[in-house]
Amino acid sequence: MLRILLVLVVSSGIAVVSGCTSSSPTVSSTTTIPSSTQPSNTFGSLSQTGQGLYVSNCSQCHGTSGQGISSLGTPALWGPTAQLGKYNTAQGLLNYITSTKPPGAPGTLPHETYVDVLCYLLIQNNAVSGSSLFNENQLNAVALK
Ligand code: HEC
Repeated sequence: MLRILLVLVVSSGIAVVSGCTSSSPTVSSTTTIPSSTQPSNTFGSLSQTGQGLYVSNCSQCHGTSGQGISSLGTPALWGPTAQLGKYNTAQGLLNYITSTKPPGAPGTLPHETYVDVLCYLLIQNNAVSGSSLFNENQLNAVALK
């Protein structure tokens, strides 16, 4: 009986420790307030920053025109063959790029970088108007086709 209790105590201790570890990135990412959450930003203004970030972080694999690079087997991100509709909404696309990009080190770019690149992709896919105000809490309402 005592052994069972000890096992319980030890395993719950591990659970607490790993819980703390996994929550720390969330804490640190909320300590800086990204400029993308400022109310005056539009999809267009964030997209302008996003274009430069796309060139430095994504274009080597997806092409500067978002066309994909067949020798690398990478998909187009906008244009006639792009298929971002499968992510349903801007939030779905943000979740996807945050959890997979850059390949090999997913989630390591600043949150603001993912947001700005997302806005660039949304503009290139005609999913939003550049003059619309950006609100990160409403990305679920931005449909992708
Ligand atoms: C090292 C090469 C590489 C880099 C850099 C890269 N990607 Fe990708 N990306 C891929 C590959 C390969 C795929 C195909 C799916 C897979 O195998 O992950 C892909 C798939 C995607 C998709 C899915 C498209 C679809 O039709 O489902 C999106 C969106 C995407 N990448 C966005 C980005 C963004 C945004 C960046 C920059 C932040 C980026 N990628 C950087 C290689 C790359």
